[in-house]
Amino acid sequence: MAAAASDGERLRLDATRLRRFCAEALSAAGATAHDAAVAAAVLVRTDLRGVHSHGVQTLPFHVKNLRDGGTCSPTRQTVVRSTPVTAVVDGNGGLGLVIATAAMAMAVGKARDSGIGVVLVRNSNHFGAAGHYALAAAEAGFIGLATSNASPIMTAAGSAKKVISNAPLAYAVPTGRFPLALDIAMSATAGMKVRLAAERGEAIPEGWVVDAGGMPTTNPGDYAAGGALAPLGGHKGYGMALLTETLAGALSGAAMTRGVVPWLVDTGTPTNAGHAFVALDVECFMGRDDFYRRMQQLIGELHAAEPAPGVERVLVPGELEHLREQDALERGLELEPVIWHHLEQVADSLGLTGALAAARRD
Ligand SMILES: NC(=O)c1ccc[n+]([C@@H]2O[C@H](COP(=O)([O-])OP(=O)(O)OC[C@H]3O[C@@H](n4cnc5c(N)ncnc54)[C@H](O)[C@@H]3O)[C@@H](O)[C@H]2O)c1
Repeated sequence: MAAAASDGERLRLDATRLRRFCAEALSAAGATAHDAAVAAAVLVRTDLRGVHSHGVQTLPFHVKNLRDGGTCSPTRQTVVRSTPVTAVVDGNGGLGLVIATAAMAMAVGKARDSGIGVVLVRNSNHFGAAGHYALAAAEAGFIGLATSNASPIMTAAGSAKKVISNAPLAYAVPTGRFPLALDIAMSATAGMKVRLAAERGEAIPEGWVVDAGGMPTTNPGDYAAGGALAPLGGHKGYGMALLTETLAGALSGAAMTRGVVPWLVDTGTPTNAGHAFVALDVECFMGRDDFYRRMQQLIGELHAAEPAPGVERVLVPGELEHLREQDALERGLELEPVIWHHLEQVADSLGLTGALAAARRD
């Protein structure tokens, strides 16, 4: 057994060694060295930015899907339709993290050549945090947009049951400093937070979840018992989720709504999820220096806003994640014991306890 973290103890990990462990785990589960390295990099960077719900804590599910046949490797992408500014890519059931990385790189390549790149993906699998791919575009100097559909866990405005995915939607904008970067899903609150409240025995605010009968509830246990997440802002989050379902589902040729296989439950069947990626060259609209100057002005105005009582200062999207990443790179990546415990289980099952233990900094 790997060394266990004591209750409540948060661990500091070395990102490079954690990435190595994740890649070894994915390889042991059947991924090629390339797929494993790309996927491990996406997962660990997601944690570095503090998005722990979609970082290495999902490693056990990627491992299980690779072993059971829900995900295949090598990941082979086929371009099924293409113009200088658009493409539709078939991911052939490979690793969503790898397919999405390549698809955003393709969108950026088209934007570099032609000003804009729009790449839709079908037959993919879970791609993790949408923000990772939008950020990749911004770090290459382009405005990036990324979204994905998934199996339904959210109501439509007025529906009693779950009918649509809690679609993640992210944008990132280069600013000359850290990128402006919003990465959110379309429910009032994440399913993970509801599960956590259930584990703690805490009530949840009304408006987060409906029970199996479609009634608002403050009991988080109702979510797992046939309930559903409620959309962010009612018809607003529902409407935005439908935009994702249109681009990443209907237009890409991927599965839609109930057709997308739930990857946490059915690990033996490819999900056929769809994604959409957009990259935009700011220089098609104005000089880069001018744009950066205007973005700094915009961000400066928001930073100068008077904070509400109890708030230290007004932030812009992506700022918290930028600060967290700097801290994690400097002082080590902090992980909750519960996530570490899941990694220990994976390490034990794959004979990689030494590689995981080596990732600890403390
Ligand atoms: N692949 C999938 O199927 C799937 C599905 C759902 C969610 N997700 C992912 O889950 C993650 C979490 O989603 P979420 O909806 O819980 O996000 P969230 O509610 O935690 O919001 C995060 C975003 O809000 C911004 N933000 C937070 N506080 C801020 C403040 N005070 N001022 C300005 N901006 C602020 C952050 O910079 C970040 O961009 C995302 O990475 C998303 O892509 C993925």
